[in-house]
Amino acid sequence: MIYDKYTDLCLQAVKDEEVFKTFKGNTACTYMLEHVTYEQGLGYLSEIKRLQPKLLKHIECFATNDSLGTPQMFWYDELNMEISPSTLRYVKVLADLVTHFGSLDDLDIVEIGIGYGGQCKIINDYFVPKSYTLIDLPEVLALAKKYLICHGIENIVLRSHRSLLHRDYDLCISNYCFTEISRQDQNFYAKNIIEHSAKGYMTCNYLDQRIKERAMTSKEIWVLKKDGFFVPEVPLTAPHNAIYLWTS
Ligand SMILES: C[S@@+](CC[C@H](N)C(=O)[O-])C[C@H]1O[C@@H](n2cnc3c(N)ncnc32)[C@H](O)[C@@H]1O
Repeated sequence: MIYDKYTDLCLQAVKDEEVFKTFKGNTACTYMLEHVTYEQGLGYLSEIKRLQPKLLKHIECFATNDSLGTPQMFWYDELNMEISPSTLRYVKVLADLVTHFGSLDDLDIVEIGIGYGGQCKIINDYFVPKSYTLIDLPEVLALAKKYLICHGIENIVLRSHRSLLHRDYDLCISNYCFTEISRQDQNFYAKNIIEHSAKGYMTCNYLDQRIKERAMTSKEIWVLKKDGFFVPEVPLTAPHNAIYLWTS
């Protein structure tokens, strides 16, 4: 994957308030992450209702994620409000995390490949983690820092990719990232983070699609953790996606 256009946008959005105001609508951002459709949003909504309907009581708070960066929003009759389907995706991931792992209060959380920090914002709207470490390319971290501070979230640790980490985590999250990056980076995260994380949730895209690039296959990912297993991504957003979970 080529991340240059997204990292350029991140740099611009950190420096220039006008770019920051509309960064979610920029094609570099829609290509990278803000491409969730209205219909997928409906699918996320139905999963949230099925798994953790109590989260919907906090939807106004979650929806403040849309107050920055001018995302594309749609009207959802059921919620009686406009919200971006990308924000609904982050809330659906939260619903999955609560379903599999219970409360995220007081956990040491690490997220690999953070976009602009949307998942971190949504988790912090509902829980108070002990620590939240964000790992990404330096330009992306700079945007996430600005974004999260604007949302009043300051209890974060920023780690540039490939920087050595010698610590344990309670929960590792990585959505649409671990399966996009090079095997070298996958090995690095497997050894330094996944091995040291008690629980994990990774939405894997391009599963078994990057064989020529020598990225890890689904079989290799399966055995990363002794108790690791795959569950379907619901709604399925690309044919080969699946979610890898562990609770060892
Ligand atoms: C498709 S986006 C997904 C972002 C976020 N997880 C989400 O669901 O919105 C992939 C992310 O991986 C990041 N990334 C690329 N190479 C990386 C690396 N070597 N280590 C960590 N993150 C990386 C990109 O900058 C981007 O933020």
